[in-house]
Amino acid sequence: MNKKFYITTPIYYVNASPHIGHTYTTVAADILARYHRMIGDKTFFLTGTDEHGARIEEVAKKAGKEPQEFTDEIAASFQFAWDELNISNDRFIRTSEEGHKKVVQKALQKMYDNGDIYLGKHEGLYCKGCEQYKNEKDLVEGKCPDHKTVPEKMSEESYMFKLSKYKDELLKKIKKDEFKILPVEKKNEVISFYENEGLNDISFSRKNVKWGVKLPWDESHTAYVWSDAFLNYLTGIGWKGEIPPTPFSKGGNMEFWPADAHLMSKDILRVHATIWPAMLLSLGLDLPKTLFIHGYFMIDGQKMSKSVGNVITPNDLVKKYGVDGARYLVASAAVFGNDGDIGWGKFDEKYNADLANGIGNLLARSIALTEKLREAAVELQNKGENFQFSIFNFQTIFNDQILISKNWVDYNVLLDLIQIDKALEIIKLQVKFLDNYITATKPWELIKNKDEKSGGVMYNILERIRHIALMVYPFMPDTAEKIWESLGLNVQEEMSKKFDEAIKWGGLPVDTKVKKGEALFPRLEK
Ligand code: MSP
Repeated sequence: MNKKFYITTPIYYVNASPHIGHTYTTVAADILARYHRMIGDKTFFLTGTDEHGARIEEVAKKAGKEPQEFTDEIAASFQFAWDELNISNDRFIRTSEEGHKKVVQKALQKMYDNGDIYLGKHEGLYCKGCEQYKNEKDLVEGKCPDHKTVPEKMSEESYMFKLSKYKDELLKKIKKDEFKILPVEKKNEVISFYENEGLNDISFSRKNVKWGVKLPWDESHTAYVWSDAFLNYLTGIGWKGEIPPTPFSKGGNMEFWPADAHLMSKDILRVHATIWPAMLLSLGLDLPKTLFIHGYFMIDGQKMSKSVGNVITPNDLVKKYGVDGARYLVASAAVFGNDGDIGWGKFDEKYNADLANGIGNLLARSIALTEKLREAAVELQNKGENFQFSIFNFQTIFNDQILISKNWVDYNVLLDLIQIDKALEIIKLQVKFLDNYITATKPWELIKNKDEKSGGVMYNILERIRHIALMVYPFMPDTAEKIWESLGLNVQEEMSKKFDEAIKWGGLPVDTKVKKGEALFPRLEK
């Protein structure tokens, strides 16, 4: 523990506003960043927008705007969405920032100087949607399968990057997990791509795209948009000191490199497993530790698209389920690493089952029960009965250390392995466990029978809820805070506790005063 942790999302294209696909990656990254901060790791979380290139130039033109004006608006819509979702990124990077452009120029100059970039000619079929050259065999009926458009034939003078030079070294590192690709099926796909198709040198500049970073040694070319985009991962932490200092990286401080995890979906795996690490080798930098490839969402069996009219935006989710409801539903929508079929029907059902009837109901029920028991105890004492139960002074604190430790080990292991949905299952199990515990121990009968165990039973319930709140924190930070408040705890104190201390049994003071709050997750009515 207490390591450094650097996590990134892809920087999103600004041709359209954010949707649930971008939200998925960003919320997942946020959960991991919050988790690592919680366990005491020095954490840096970077997200942002990818703003240059032919496609953005074209979309801006269609909208009748200058590219900068256009990208300013869309970048703001991403920032707004992430603020609304309580995303805790340490920096939001935009590739149109001056500092980033300087980093791109410095990096490409270095690669040019060391002979990895040379002037050549490139011919091929270019898909603007992908911002990539396509092979004939990747096309379906002559069209890009992702964008359903016919790629343009291009033949132009271009600076080329010697990607082929790095094939053997990269393949070796991928096989040995020195550059880890997860899940393992995705690693195998990449290996077979390397083995069957190999790596060819690739065009790294464009003559006829003006909206981009000028090559420092030949200003008639702009940098290939992917080379520009990848470098955000370095600019963002202050490489070459070209950005204003962040809380942790003061001018050029590379303490966060290499990245611990680049999150993304399969659409951009291949470029991340070939061009990006080759650029790093060329620059003499370490490779990222892990690429984690999560699944792709379909909406009720269909690809999400404007023309189908099934696009789900982060704001749609927040309006319906609240910030934490939205975060939960997205994070639990699929096994992390597998494709998922999502939709409003499934979200509604899950919201009611896991949140309204699950954790929300458990908290409300437990607080109400505690208050009832306290009243009953006061009543008994008023009657002059010598009864020891008191919420202020639990008599029999049942020690649940062993059980809870095991739950914490599972939770930590799963989050270290980036198994986000499975870590959520641990929380769900705890909620179920407590619901059953309450039903089985029947605290209301214990008090009726003046059973002195009632204080201990109630302590067990509330203390376990304290643990649940801590587990919930990375996923639903506001909910965790509301739970702590209901338990009579001080949010700041809970958050500043050392993790090892916080996960010990018995952290809830025996004289705590519980408080009834608003329902955590009001039930959705049909
Ligand atoms: N700009 C490039 C990335 C450059 S990173 C150096 C790009 N942008 S993008 O806007 O198209 O974002 C793609 C990423 O958004 C996916 O890899 C994934 O993280 C997320 N998703 C977009 N649509 C998605 C789904 N339908 N489902 C799940 N994630 C999706 O590519």
